[in-house]
Amino acid sequence: MCGIVGYIGNKNGIDVVTRGLERLEYRGYDSAGVAFFGVGQKRLQVIKTVGRLDALKHILAKQKKSGAFGTAVIGHTRWATHGVPSKMNAHPHIGCKKEIALVHNGIIENSDALREALSREGHVFRSSTDTEALVHLIERMISFGALSLEDAVRQALRHVRGTFGIVVISSRWPNRVVAARRGSPLLVGVGKKNEYIIASDASAISEHTKRVIYLDDNELISLSSEGHRIFDIANNTLFKNASLITWSQEESQKEGFPHFMLKEIFAAPDVIENALRGRVLAKEGVVKLGGLESVQKKLEWIKRIVIAACGTSYYAGLIGKYLIEEMAKIPVDVVYGSEFRYAPSTVDRSALVIVISQSGETADTLEAAREAKRRGAKTVGIVNVVGSSIAREVHAGIYNHAGPEIAVASTKAFISQLVTLAMLAVFLGTERKTLSDEKRKEFLKELVALPRKCRFVLKQDQVIKKIAKKFSAAQNFLFLGRKFNWPTALEGALKLKEISYIHAEGYPAGEMKHGPIALIDQHFPTVAIALQDSVYEKIISAIQEVRARKGPIIGLVTAGDSAFQKYTKHIIAIPQTHEALSPVLAVIPLQLFAYHIACFRGADVDKPRNLAKSVTVE
Ligand code: G6P
Repeated sequence: MCGIVGYIGNKNGIDVVTRGLERLEYRGYDSAGVAFFGVGQKRLQVIKTVGRLDALKHILAKQKKSGAFGTAVIGHTRWATHGVPSKMNAHPHIGCKKEIALVHNGIIENSDALREALSREGHVFRSSTDTEALVHLIERMISFGALSLEDAVRQALRHVRGTFGIVVISSRWPNRVVAARRGSPLLVGVGKKNEYIIASDASAISEHTKRVIYLDDNELISLSSEGHRIFDIANNTLFKNASLITWSQEESQKEGFPHFMLKEIFAAPDVIENALRGRVLAKEGVVKLGGLESVQKKLEWIKRIVIAACGTSYYAGLIGKYLIEEMAKIPVDVVYGSEFRYAPSTVDRSALVIVISQSGETADTLEAAREAKRRGAKTVGIVNVVGSSIAREVHAGIYNHAGPEIAVASTKAFISQLVTLAMLAVFLGTERKTLSDEKRKEFLKELVALPRKCRFVLKQDQVIKKIAKKFSAAQNFLFLGRKFNWPTALEGALKLKEISYIHAEGYPAGEMKHGPIALIDQHFPTVAIALQDSVYEKIISAIQEVRARKGPIIGLVTAGDSAFQKYTKHIIAIPQTHEALSPVLAVIPLQLFAYHIACFRGADVDKPRNLAKSVTVE
């Protein structure tokens, strides 16, 4: 996601901050910016650019020649969430009087309400970001008599809902930097002689100092040449010792995980929370999808839905079909992006076409969206990258908010697509009045419980690793599931072949007897998703057929299903949830299984051969 770097000290802060931003490039970004005071200067300088950091560095190099030497500097690489990538939307953001500059990671949930209130008081907004509300709010606190920058920031944060890691500077207090966090990581590197480097990620700090203070939620820190003070929102002073970081540069980027893929699988609980944030009010039974407002009227009378996508996103689409048909009773077809244009199609004005794409750049999916529009259909995008080609092409959309995915094989983005589709299914079911209040509330209750249940699944990592080791020499795998988890089986097989190069096939369990069963023998393992749901007995029949042919079985079962032990000793248990949400939990062990097998086989997990993260050719 976005990256933050801040500096206060005697070195040239512009150099320190740009170098730090370079270290954060791996996280992905679409624009960048810095704000600083030149030595002896009273006014804030703000420089922002769209695209790679080089453009920003080029401008800063010129500034440096003319003597700019920041002692208090903040910088940011932005990965758009609210508002397209643009110079205006890039950070740092400044207030009306151009006295305060702020960089922010996270999402301010009540930014609309804050914006409205502050606009009424005369504040003028320039960007479409949620962040800008916060800088105006701090400015307001100063005009209303806050005695210091830390006081103004602290008071402003009392009015904010959502998540933030922020760093703030002000020309009224040019020798001070204030930072705060809630939900978004922020750490403070402690250098020599009261020099501090603040960053969202240790990789921006570790070349300067190994001593860091980790801020916890709702904590603030005020830094100056005299030292630092840590305090909470209620202004209680806190005492924290600096810890020593022992990670190398690359390890810091992976936050201690050996591969980005593993880090991204472990991000699942956060990814779900980010997708749900501000959209689901579980108690009230309400789903709000602001991105669909422009097509909401049309959604009332569409006759059918067609989902177009590729790869992992296509499998998310298959689960989406079950979800939408179950909740909203609208018929759904799922088509590969690459087939949409060429298949004889009945898509017309009466259809809604949903395109799903992590990158928002997949050429086949983009062309499907264009073709759908030519045929008169309304299009909705489920896209992770804000401002990407598909996001711009569609009539309306829902962003996943999963953050950049670095490993080529998609994991956390898939999870966020499923959660987004679940919200969409409830949204459509509510519009169509096909969902009783009770059913809706029950489903949303389970939806918001998913992050907690994901954490339980992730705790099975070592069990999964052991099973993966046992089977890492296999040449073939069969993955079976039914109903909601048939596509999960397809995704499990895809993950395994993508990163371990083992031949794997996913099948709806009922189809096994129509072909794949011919392959089964003692060397051909089957991964069976056998959860205690409406198709449990059916899956058990397929498992019996595999056992009868001496095929080894790995069972993905509901926690507490001790009876399953009679079929195999290789068991991975996941918590019970609503059947329609079970793929979210079931796919995680399959991702981990593929990951560990690939590691045991010595494969290049994050960059598998022949694959690209974003396929922009047809
Ligand atoms: C490539 C990637 C897959 C991804 C597919 C669709 O093949 O390697 O991981 O699922 O593209 O990508 P999209 O960005 O449209 O979701």
